[in-house]
Amino acid sequence: MFSESTRCIVLVGAQWGDEGKGKITDVLAEQATIVARYQGGANAGHTVEVGDEQFILHLIPSGALYPTVRCLLGNGVVIDPWTLAEEVEMLEGRGIDIARRLGISWRAHLVLPYHKLLDGASESSRGVQIGTTRRGIGPAYRDKVARAGIRVCDLADLSAVRSTIDDRCAWANNRLSAFGSAERANATEIMDGLEAVAPGLLANAVEVGDEIRVELDSGGRALLEGAQGSLLDVDHGTYPFVTSSNTTAGGAAVGVGIGPTLIDDVLGVVKAYTTRVGNGPLPTELEGEAAEHLRVLGGEYGATTGRPRRPGWFDGVVVRHAAAVNGLTALAVTKLDVLDTFDELRLGVAYELEDAEQSGFPPRTEQLDSVRPVYETLPGWNASTTDCRKIEALPENARAYLSRIESVSGVPIRYVSVGSGRTQIVTL
Ligand code: IMP
Repeated sequence: MFSESTRCIVLVGAQWGDEGKGKITDVLAEQATIVARYQGGANAGHTVEVGDEQFILHLIPSGALYPTVRCLLGNGVVIDPWTLAEEVEMLEGRGIDIARRLGISWRAHLVLPYHKLLDGASESSRGVQIGTTRRGIGPAYRDKVARAGIRVCDLADLSAVRSTIDDRCAWANNRLSAFGSAERANATEIMDGLEAVAPGLLANAVEVGDEIRVELDSGGRALLEGAQGSLLDVDHGTYPFVTSSNTTAGGAAVGVGIGPTLIDDVLGVVKAYTTRVGNGPLPTELEGEAAEHLRVLGGEYGATTGRPRRPGWFDGVVVRHAAAVNGLTALAVTKLDVLDTFDELRLGVAYELEDAEQSGFPPRTEQLDSVRPVYETLPGWNASTTDCRKIEALPENARAYLSRIESVSGVPIRYVSVGSGRTQIVTL
């Protein structure tokens, strides 16, 4: 996908997250010199398999597994410093020398213990829960936008941070009490914890946008890695059942500090079917035994929380929406092999609401809960695809299914993943 004229690629999830971005990032990272995360935090769970080994990464970009790739966390990421330290230690312990290849934006905001307490307590007290990962993501972004956050650069003078921490703990403890939670944030403990992690963070702090610009100027290749999925974008997703950042491609430029004109291509990753974890609309959702069947075949349990994912048929309306708001130039379809044993497959091509076909993706939860997906039924292929490495090797019905995904989404397919291993990929 990288070439002389394509040196900066954004990779986004084009459904509700868990599309297999970790694997596709890992494949593309082989050709990249920089991989940078631009939003989200430790709510993400990217699974990458190398040989017999499996790595689950929450904060560090999936490019970490290639020894020469520089890994960056952009200003748009919210960083839980203790989770980051654990992840670095885990990787180093498994022989991946990430510490010297990691760069962290000075401008990235921190997720602090009170954000996590607030995330949990506000979820528990909501009438209808979002189903967040309880990693403190929403409260950390709230503080950022409210201009009450602590950034990596602030750790250079910890004494100046104390008054903000005191203030935020008092505010959080008030909220926790209003939510009926007995838990409380402790400013002294947080300051002690920050003292322990500050040197490590500061040693790796950089101006991420400058690094990417210099790298691209000198012929390097940058992959900007999105977390979650487009339908979880705070602006373009199924609000309020979304995460608190811009997961879509526009967020990439802002989230690493480069201009959008430097981005050459936007690759959207989709599963060959659909899943969602957490609450909110899922128009093509499967129920009962059919759901369980797909969940078991696909191993559909959250990498961060272990929660069972909600499976559904491929939803072309969702991917068309994602294609539009991201400006997708290509698709990577993952987990095609999970569908190998189905006699028939359904594919959502449109929505009907009150007997009228919808032209776009409706904005309101009530509408999305009431739409009736219009399905096409396609024959399955009842053959294993896991050893296929070329498009011609795929069964004819599998090719027909992929071709329908292309025409319904309006985006050409560039990669098809047929298993979790690094080499189980078909490039078109
Ligand atoms: P939060 O990002 O923890 O605030 O959660 C908000 C919503 O996004 C919930 O529905 C989560 O289940 C969902 N979510 C957050 N991160 C991921 C992810 O990496 N994959 C899939 N869903 C996610």
